[in-house]
Amino acid sequence: MTVVDGLLGPLASAVGAAHVLTDADVVAGYAVDWTGRFRGSTSVVVRPGSTAEVAAVLRICDDAGVAVVPQGGNTGLVGGSVPLAGEVVLSLARLADLEDVDPAAAQVTAGAGVSIGRLQAAATEAGLAYGVDLASRDTATVGGTIATNAAGLRALRYGDTRSQLVGVEAVLADGRVVTHLGGLVRDNTGYHLPSLLCGSEGTLAVVTKARLRLVPRYSERVVALLAFDSVDAALVAAGSMRSRLSSVDAAELFLQTGLDLVAEVTGLPAPFPARHVAYLLVEAADRLDPTDALAEALADVGAVADVAVASAASARQRLWAYRERHTEAINAIGTPHKLDVALPASAIAAFVAEAPHRIAALAPQARTWIFGHAADGNLHVNVTGLAPDDDQVDETVLRLAASYGGSISAEHGIGTAKRAWLGLNRSDTEIAAFRAIKAALDPRGTLNPNVLLPPPA
Ligand code: MLT
Ligand code: ZN
Repeated sequence: MTVVDGLLGPLASAVGAAHVLTDADVVAGYAVDWTGRFRGSTSVVVRPGSTAEVAAVLRICDDAGVAVVPQGGNTGLVGGSVPLAGEVVLSLARLADLEDVDPAAAQVTAGAGVSIGRLQAAATEAGLAYGVDLASRDTATVGGTIATNAAGLRALRYGDTRSQLVGVEAVLADGRVVTHLGGLVRDNTGYHLPSLLCGSEGTLAVVTKARLRLVPRYSERVVALLAFDSVDAALVAAGSMRSRLSSVDAAELFLQTGLDLVAEVTGLPAPFPARHVAYLLVEAADRLDPTDALAEALADVGAVADVAVASAASARQRLWAYRERHTEAINAIGTPHKLDVALPASAIAAFVAEAPHRIAALAPQARTWIFGHAADGNLHVNVTGLAPDDDQVDETVLRLAASYGGSISAEHGIGTAKRAWLGLNRSDTEIAAFRAIKAALDPRGTLNPNVLLPPPA
């Protein structure tokens, strides 16, 4: 009998036998990430239904020295939420309580298992909106997006998940609960635990609830898909939208190669009769129709080779599909290596030109797809045609980004995929401080032990 087998009884007493999953076929689904690149194993998935049950599960595992991987919607892209070495999976899916929106505060308290789509729908119903949006909105959860500090499609206007977070309830590794959900926006009373836990990838505590700020809901929207004959021109336009259009929600870059793949996989028709090098999808939203403001901002942007504009929801959705469906199209042709980097604005064009050559030199069979949140300097370099465990291309791309003064993770996190290269962005002293924080909050190393921090030398 393994140590974990010995915990099945106590775990069943804590959460109910129906929520302790051990069937090999069932638990296998929790042991692989969305891309299929990161595959581990587990013998048990526990699905607590309340904060008290999460606390009980963690107490049992921590006392027994058994490691735990918290899991939300499992839509992460860096292998941060799968049991890489037989850990117990702690699924937060059942923590799905969503309180009524507090209109006076423009805030809401949501359980970790609430999907971003459901949160957005509730905010919309109350005449507000949630500032974070991402293509995986119907599966990604509040808890998972906090763990990864997800940013997504509208971070240009509203910031990342950390910027939405007013308070959290979380369970420490030993089962103690910290709760700070009062919703005070000005609350200058020491260390800001929500900020620390946000982006900590489940290594410091398990977030069970969050108090989130909501933003105004703008009912008037316009989307423009702009075509350019150089990446440079598209980036100049993105910068211009960011600085001149106060109603800009998103400015997203993709290239002709990615557009061809999306069209091939999804059957979407080409947006323009001619082919171009680069595309920028811009969305503006305001109380009054922002079309004129968008056109005015565009008037200063030379070199637009073609443009399609949409105001009606269905037409906007059609234009967004060219950008949003990149992830799905890339996954359809093979397991991608996802390298999510951020670059200084002045280095993006050079990086976009150089990265594919560096990749081709190492792996001529590989195909490179570059797209992303251009106005934030966040590029997604996706590479297909590589073995899942072949890290050479990853290392080359991450080193290249760092050499330009960039970050090896703009929004996906470090996970297991990039932990070996954290030192490209963080000094030894910073990493030592990270380890000290980890040791203080999780002295036995129970929580997600195989992500974020580099493996000890
Ligand atoms: C996106 O922005 O679509 C995702 O974060 C990127 C990806 O799938 O690589
Ligand atoms: Zn993204």
